[in-house]
Amino acid sequence: MEQQGADAAAARRMATLASHLRPDPASSHPQMEEVSLLRGSICRAKGAAPGFKVAILGAAGGIGQPLALLMKMNPLVSVLHLYDVVNAPGVTADISHMNTGAVVRGFLGQPQLENALTGMDLVVIPAGVPRKPGMTRDDLFNINAGIVRTLCEGIAKCCPKAIVNVISNPVNSTVPIAAEVFKKAGTYDPKRLLGVTTLDVVRANTFVGEVLGLDPREVNVPVIGGHAGVTILPLLSQVNPACSLTSEEVNHLTSRIQNGGTEVVEAKAGAGSATLSMAYAAAKFADACLRGLRGDAGIVECSYVASQVTELPFFASKVRLGRSGVEEILPLGPLNEFERAGLEKAKKELAESIQKGVSFINK
Ligand SMILES: NC(=O)c1ccc[n+]([C@@H]2O[C@H](COP(=O)([O-])OP(=O)(O)OC[C@H]3O[C@@H](n4cnc5c(N)ncnc54)[C@H](O)[C@@H]3O)[C@@H](O)[C@H]2O)c1
Repeated sequence: MEQQGADAAAARRMATLASHLRPDPASSHPQMEEVSLLRGSICRAKGAAPGFKVAILGAAGGIGQPLALLMKMNPLVSVLHLYDVVNAPGVTADISHMNTGAVVRGFLGQPQLENALTGMDLVVIPAGVPRKPGMTRDDLFNINAGIVRTLCEGIAKCCPKAIVNVISNPVNSTVPIAAEVFKKAGTYDPKRLLGVTTLDVVRANTFVGEVLGLDPREVNVPVIGGHAGVTILPLLSQVNPACSLTSEEVNHLTSRIQNGGTEVVEAKAGAGSATLSMAYAAAKFADACLRGLRGDAGIVECSYVASQVTELPFFASKVRLGRSGVEEILPLGPLNEFERAGLEKAKKELAESIQKGVSFINK
């Protein structure tokens, strides 16, 4: 009798489980059946904490995967959408087994982009191709510019109020590209479009910490300008805690911070660019955006945004984040002669990169 009861209970549990195995009819790709188990009404993770909905576009890439992992660990995230044109189901299934609050859903390919974006509070874009030795800047530009345009058209249509974090390079041009796409769609809000330059700050804090013998978590170096070569301008005269560096140290540190990306590209010798430190930086920046959205006070990060601190339409500097995205762009503060010369060089290159992005959309 007892055995029969146990068998009946087991059969009922199996029937309940089987009811969760309905593939999503909207999904035409067989790989997505597994992922469809994680969708909406059939998702069992009902206990998810209230929080923000975040999408990562390019989630199966070198940056996307560790970024997905870090965002799944963020207690402010209740729903995490992972979109890519390849391998989204595998990454989603893998990440979804982590016992943290965020519910994870996967989306594969262009037909699923709109579902991936609908209802999102924050969209992070690491989609694209990374710099490889031998690749010209133009090669990289043309591929990534097209990818960012397509993804931003989706954002304008499906979640025009979302905060957008652009990681895809060249950030100096992809942020103006995103702005032009949003302008065309009539959804542009400069406060909600942010280029991610956090990796430059992360590197600056680490390298300056090494030179000063300080814990890098206690070092804060503002990095302004843009996110490539000479446009990356660390303000070593404004390091917190205050310190005095020799001109030799300043030259060495400035050059190492500006070429940090190349250091990694060369060390990886053909296997891509910075992915792990970038995912860390992107997760840190996304967390700051979410804390701003939540209404936390005093959230200040460097970011490449629409700006009036210089005559250029976009510039990276310290910004205060809040409920509506960028709530204030902080002044650059006093620059020394070395930094003023660096700023002039940075502005020249930045102006060209911005123009290149704008022309890509308006050609
Ligand atoms: N902002 C920064 O500080 C910084 C730092 C490092 C790298 N990057 C840039 O980030 C980008 C990604 O680098 P990675 O190393 O992760 O590259 P990767 O090639 O490993 O990953 C890119 C991912 O994007 C996906 N993808 C391509 N086209 C797509 C599309 N149309 N829609 C959605 N996904 C698409 C690919 O399938 C791949 O999974 C590159 O542009 C790289 O230059 C930026």
